Amino acid sequence: MSETKVKILDRTFKVMIPAEQIDQAVSRVAEQLNRDYSNTETTPVVVSVLSGAFMFLADISRKLTFNHEISFLKISSYSGTKSTGKIREELGLNTDIKGRDVIIIEDIVDTGISMHYLMDYLRGFSPKSVEACTLFFKPGNYRGTEEIKYRAMEIGNEFIVGYGLDYDQLGRNLKDIYVVCEE
Ligand code: IMP
Ligand code: MG
Repeated sequence: MSETKVKILDRTFKVMIPAEQIDQAVSRVAEQLNRDYSNTETTPVVVSVLSGAFMFLADISRKLTFNHEISFLKISSYSGTKSTGKIREELGLNTDIKGRDVIIIEDIVDTGISMHYLMDYLRGFSPKSVEACTLFFKPGNYRGTEEIKYRAMEIGNEFIVGYGLDYDQLGRNLKDIYVVCEE
């Protein structure tokens, strides 16, 4: 494990989930996807949400044993440690997903507003199916109605950084997951 405490801007964070544990959770969810998508008629499209999911995508796609295309979308809803509740689309889809199976790769589903928006947005292109795959799920904050079929890990309502997730754009490079500590 790396440094147990890190300072980012005005806050101190401590290790909550070490890299080895993240890797095991990613492997488990990749196996579920391998079971469900190994015999599809068309090539599935893995749509990753920038920027937070970049590290999860890099790791999970190397564990997927079926052929898949990779595409990116960028939206933003967070400012500091709070969700603004408003989604801004910063980069749209540039892959033809009509009639295809789509797997959304997200870093974290918190209130669910972003995932709801993404699923609606992608369904607008008439894909065959759209499923959500998230590294983290916060059941205590979730207000959505969409089923989040693939969840690598469930956590409480705490704010976390590392492994792609940021605090005001910083901390994405950390290989473990860190949580705010109050001293
Ligand atoms: P939602 O729309 O409330 O579900 O928020 C989802 C987005 O907020 C995620 O894609 C993240 O970018 C961001 N987010 C939510 N919780 C956290 C957190 O604990 N740390 C860092 N980013 C978070
Ligand atoms: Mg995100």
